[in-house]
Amino acid sequence: MTRWQTVQALSTVQALSTVQALSIVLFLTVTAQTVEAKPKYIGVAKCANCHKANYLAWKTSSHAKTFNVLKPGKRKKAKLRAELDPEKDYTTDKKCVKCHVTGYRKKGGFKDIESTPQMAGVGCESCHGPGSKYAVLHDKKMYGFEKREATELGQLYGADDEAVCLQCHLHKDSPFHEKLDKKYKWDWKEKLKVRKAYHPKPKGKSQFSF
Ligand code: HEC
Ligand code: HEC
Ligand code: HEC
Ligand code: HEC
Repeated sequence: MTRWQTVQALSTVQALSTVQALSIVLFLTVTAQTVEAKPKYIGVAKCANCHKANYLAWKTSSHAKTFNVLKPGKRKKAKLRAELDPEKDYTTDKKCVKCHVTGYRKKGGFKDIESTPQMAGVGCESCHGPGSKYAVLHDKKMYGFEKREATELGQLYGADDEAVCLQCHLHKDSPFHEKLDKKYKWDWKEKLKVRKAYHPKPKGKSQFSF
């Protein structure tokens, strides 16, 4: 909504009570934001409010902790094989950081470890998409939403669409690939089965819990 529209809205509602006026302006602002803005990254803590079990499992996974492998002295052998310097600090190296954090240089995403420490590591939104909009849908509709509605708001489904994982895996910029060692071979369906790399499948019908 432009400033002019806001001014107009304000003058139209001047005749109404303060409470009515405020709620109308609020409604217009919220509507304008929902229609215009692209989804932003909101961080794992927001998702954890509702998806506690997934959050606790994810926290111990290699994706969650993978910012640390960029630090000097970590994974020395692997780095040497890839002709990387095991004593170098890669945590500020643009060529590395993008795949070891969440939403690198995107709205709400990782900037640097000082200002956005909560976005270090591969978080929920790396695989599920930036959450500012679909998290609202999850909240509003609870069990009653369709996949289609969620994807329209930016949610991604890595088990339907390999491209979600290929943002980082099998990517030409990754120093670790099959030619270096067979253990780095990418097989989407097989990798999806490694649930300890992100979080287990829910036992019952739903993982949802407060
Ligand atoms: C206010 C609570 C709430 C918040 C916040 C929330 N969710 Fe959800 N989410 C739900 C509920 C309820 C469901 C539907 C029940 C279920 O299947 O677990 C759901 C379902 C899901 C699903 C399954 C979708 C499907 O189509 O089956 C994924 C994936 C998910 N949420 C990820 C996230 C991520 C990632 C975040 C943070 C960006 C997030 N949620 C934030 C409540 C929430
Ligand atoms: C395009 C995305 C991408 C970029 C860029 C990237 N990585 Fe990674 N990195 C990955 C993926 C994916 C893996 C997991 C590979 C696997 O296990 O199959 C990984 C794994 C690693 C590992 C663990 C290897 C092991 O066997 O323990 C280290 C260490 C690492 N990366 C460091 C770096 C460094 C240093 C840079 C910059 C020079 C970098 N990465 C750039 C995606 C990337
Ligand atoms: C490495 C990728 C990855 C990360 C990181 C990740 N997930 Fe998932 N998640 C998946 C995949 C794959 C599925 C299966 C459904 C799909 O998205 O296609 C899934 C499914 C889900 C579901 C549906 C129920 C289930 O477990 O099958 C929920 C809820 C969920 N994730 C929440 C989260 C939350 C919350 C986080 C962060 C704390 C998170 N995920 C981190 C890949 C990931
Ligand atoms: C934002 C980048 C990114 C995305 C997106 C991503 N990964 Fe990863 N993945 C990594 C990195 C980096 C590692 C290396 C973790 C480490 O060893 O520190 C990794 C490691 C793994 C591993 C090995 C973990 C282990 O403990 O053996 C599996 C399996 C995996 N990813 C599966 C997936 C799947 C499946 C998807 C898509 C649903 C996916 N990843 C999406 C970056 C990513």
